Amino acid sequence: MNKQLRKAVIAGNWKMNKTPSQAKALIEEMKPLVKDADCDVVICVPYVDLQTAVEATKGTNIKVGAENCHWEKSGAFTGEISTEMLTELGVEYVVIGHSERRTYFGETDVTVNKRVRAALDAGLTVILCVGEYLEQREQGVTFDVVGMQTRIALGGVSKEELSRIIIAYEPVWAIGTGRTATAEQANEVNHAIREIVADLYDREAADAFVVQYGGSMNAGNAADLLAQPDVDGGLIGGASLKAPDFAKIVEAASK
Ligand code: 13P
Repeated sequence: MNKQLRKAVIAGNWKMNKTPSQAKALIEEMKPLVKDADCDVVICVPYVDLQTAVEATKGTNIKVGAENCHWEKSGAFTGEISTEMLTELGVEYVVIGHSERRTYFGETDVTVNKRVRAALDAGLTVILCVGEYLEQREQGVTFDVVGMQTRIALGGVSKEELSRIIIAYEPVWAIGTGRTATAEQANEVNHAIREIVADLYDREAADAFVVQYGGSMNAGNAADLLAQPDVDGGLIGGASLKAPDFAKIVEAASK
């Protein structure tokens, strides 16, 4: 219901893969394969690949995103990157709150919210990641965890700004494991996220809101996942590093 109100978004998250020259080669291979997409196509790449990616995708339907950003405009934050550094390059998207940031780099719901706020203020579109650990799913707290992550991340975000936020539901146990959530599991959590948006804002905002699934999505299982009423696209790790596989997922989202 209401899926026709939303345009699917297929985003690659390259993580810590590809040097600039490798990035250029992958993008050149990808360009002709995704040029007829009837969905939004985004590649989120390492900081050092951003300039190459922006130049290589100029005049194409591929948009470029970063994999994180800091909340301060500038200052003594060694190793961090500001939103202005991204926008000046022509970057349009940014992934925030990926589980790998939360697990390995101390990211919390509060710092996720600060980064979301800064990214929106800079005019970026946010791909906000939420998702539970396997233990949490087994303990039956998936909806509580994802609900809390979602509510805190959206703190201080206006209804108008929601058009520049995408939530990617990524169950941690499905990331890079080959163990994909079933289409039903993905859909029920995506649906719950949409209901939280309805609760925080209103029905209209929730119906227009894009919720992706991520976690071992690939050329073989994408069509099934994307056919679900609340799955509006995908955030793709491993399969986004192979142009033909990524193109197949884009094709599945374009139907
Ligand atoms: P995989 O597709 O490799 O499981 O990674 C998913 C992911 O974490 C995307 O952000």
